[in-house]
Amino acid sequence: MKIIVMGANGLMGNEFRRVLPARETYFASRLDCDITDINSIRRYIRGLNINDEFTIINCAANRDAERMEFDDYDLAKKITVDGPHNLAVVANEMGGRLIHFTSDYVFDGTKNTPYLESDKTNGLSVYGRLKVCSEQDLLATANNIIIIRPAWIFSSYGKDFVKTIYNLGQTRPELHVVYDQVGSPTYGADLAKYIAQIIPQIKQNTREIYHLTNEGVCSWYDMACAVKQNCNLPCEIIPVRSHEYQQNARRPSYSVLDKSKIKRDFNLCIRHYSDALKECCEQIKGK
Ligand SMILES: NC(=O)c1ccc[n+]([C@@H]2O[C@H](COP(=O)([O-])OP(=O)(O)OC[C@H]3O[C@@H](n4cnc5c(N)ncnc54)[C@H](OP(=O)(O)O)[C@@H]3O)[C@@H](O)[C@H]2O)c1
Repeated sequence: MKIIVMGANGLMGNEFRRVLPARETYFASRLDCDITDINSIRRYIRGLNINDEFTIINCAANRDAERMEFDDYDLAKKITVDGPHNLAVVANEMGGRLIHFTSDYVFDGTKNTPYLESDKTNGLSVYGRLKVCSEQDLLATANNIIIIRPAWIFSSYGKDFVKTIYNLGQTRPELHVVYDQVGSPTYGADLAKYIAQIIPQIKQNTREIYHLTNEGVCSWYDMACAVKQNCNLPCEIIPVRSHEYQQNARRPSYSVLDKSKIKRDFNLCIRHYSDALKECCEQIKGK
């Protein structure tokens, strides 16, 4: 089984570089393959001369929900919906399978018990609504598709909440962090590891959505406090409400994701985010 990682220079692309076997995997940057151009995808995959089964993992994205509220809508749609659609079309043509990521932002946060895959989606932001469109489109287009909904990804790579707290917490006396948004953090390294584990078990002609985060539930405030503790930051963390913290994109106030389906279907054992966060903080401190 060969694996092609698209958008391989981003946060999750780098996490996959750590866990996928180098001999079996092709890592495509945006320059190697632009997913918004279907012929670029065809050219790139044909050039690999794969004579085996293959899986495309799509990490190519624009996840800047804040900017997306104001940026050109068609551009945002191009990378969030049209690009994944192109990958599905080419995967169908060449007999491959697609793994794609959406997000907890597909939900509006009005539930107060963990969201199931079958729950009604209702994105509150442009990013969230476009992720809903991409899910609907891929389920209708792709012959073989797994859509993974992670949430609140943290990692030693790329831009994320943990590094933001770590960097600001060393220079500012206090940090204001929202405590009225509750979710399920996901360690990028664990997400990549769990996906590598499930790939050999995916059945032919699958069309499924799965929630996949670490175990545990917290607010952004709780998570910031845990980063402060793990990294011995000298700052004070002040809890604030979302409306006191200026943001353009509306976020779900509750987006805990139920992971029973992926645990059952793939026999996955998922660790608690607090253990993963300790590991991530150690890596960030060591850099
Ligand atoms: N990070 C999170 O907190 C989070 C949470 C939930 C879900 N997700 C989802 O998880 C997936 C992976 O996210 P990530 O955090 O790894 O994103 P990321 O760090 O922003 O990486 C995205 C990568 O996509 C590349 N890219 C952009 N446009 C492209 C194009 N047209 N063709 C090919 N590549 C292109 C970028 O290339 P350049 O390096 O050249 O810009 C970048 O390397 C996304 O679908 C995201 O929505 C992320």
